[in-house]
Amino acid sequence: MGINILHLLSLLLFPLVATAMIQHELFAVPAEPVILNYHNGTLLTGNYSINIIWYGDFTAAQRGIVIDFITSLSASTPAPSVASWWKTTSLYQGGGAQITLGSQYFDTNLSFGKSLTRKNLSQLATDNGHHKNAITAIFTSQNVLVEGFCLASCGIHRWATAGKHNGTKFAYLWAGNSATQCPGGCAWPFHKPIYGPQDPPLIPPNGDVGMDGLIIRIATLLAGIATNPYGDGYFLGDKLAPLEAVTACPGTFGTGYYPGYPGKLLIDETTGASYNADGLAGRKYLIPGMWNPVTKECTPLV
Ligand SMILES: *[C@@H]1O[C@H](CO)[C@@H](O)[C@H](O)[C@H]1NC(C)=O
Ligand SMILES: *[C@@H]1O[C@H](CO)[C@@H](O)[C@H](O)[C@H]1NC(C)=O
Ligand SMILES: *[C@@H]1O[C@H](CO)[C@@H](O)[C@H](O)[C@H]1NC(C)=O
Ligand SMILES: *[C@@H]1O[C@H](CO)[C@@H](O)[C@H](O)[C@H]1NC(C)=O
Ligand SMILES: *[C@@H]1O[C@H](CO)[C@@H](O)[C@H](O)[C@H]1NC(C)=O
Repeated sequence: MGINILHLLSLLLFPLVATAMIQHELFAVPAEPVILNYHNGTLLTGNYSINIIWYGDFTAAQRGIVIDFITSLSASTPAPSVASWWKTTSLYQGGGAQITLGSQYFDTNLSFGKSLTRKNLSQLATDNGHHKNAITAIFTSQNVLVEGFCLASCGIHRWATAGKHNGTKFAYLWAGNSATQCPGGCAWPFHKPIYGPQDPPLIPPNGDVGMDGLIIRIATLLAGIATNPYGDGYFLGDKLAPLEAVTACPGTFGTGYYPGYPGKLLIDETTGASYNADGLAGRKYLIPGMWNPVTKECTPLV
């Protein structure tokens, strides 16, 4: 359920890094067409709120980019939009959740320190907020280190149980602002990739490489949670390293995408930024294509 950088890069840059990649990683890459299998479990359905834990320092402008993205998910903005993209999750059997913004917690004092383990993330998510019909989203600021960040993943989603007795099973995600730690790994195409063609990076639609990159991660993880919240929904491959709704379709932002090229996108005439989805409040976002269970294809937004 992590966004595995090796998978991401091998899919994005397959022809270019073939010699640099470990052989078995190459064979782990699915051939077209991509088929995600349903594993008979529960998907998210009904009304869910997203509770946010801001771990470390984020400016109000940075938080606004994320908050407007979350409130755009279940809005009625015409396609291509964050809302039209999110509706694809309701095409999955048993899926379709309405999302609202829940509570926000500010952990500016870094209660678990400046370097978090996966276990600390689980604890942080469990300790804060209510969990019934809720998803917890932990966002770490650019100076916070997280186990595996940049090396193995740009973010993860998991589930945990909170509360006494049998508790409430809830899904949580973590994603970090990669601006200073690994923008080439986690904020492409707003930063030159680590490998492959060094084309000029795209201008981010909200003017913030780290946060616009974070939006790509949040979109990826939320789509994974919606369609595979507890490890028995829709995915391809190994249960412990599954390819999900968006991770099975990396780099599919616009029509004509190919490894290392995000595809043809919309351009904001004022800023020159690239985007593919409208949000509320005049926001523009770049979000990855999702696997569509009806057409059985990775579908870019534009
Ligand atoms: C899902 O359920 C069907 C029908 O009961 C069964 O044949 C199939 O093996 C199940 N799949 C998984 C992954 O459990
Ligand atoms: C979700 O919330 C909406 C509006 O608040 C409500 O009309 C609807 O019945 C709710 N759906 C479920 C499944 O609870
Ligand atoms: C954070 O630490 C400062 C200084 O120690 C303290 O004054 C403040 O109350 C703390 N904030 C929270 C939310 O714990
Ligand atoms: C964070 O997790 C590690 C083990 O994964 C643990 O040793 C450490 O005590 C945790 N930190 C806090 C503040 O709980
Ligand atoms: C907790 O789970 C056990 C085993 O699944 C079940 O027998 C028990 O009734 C549950 N208790 C509550 C309070 O839900």
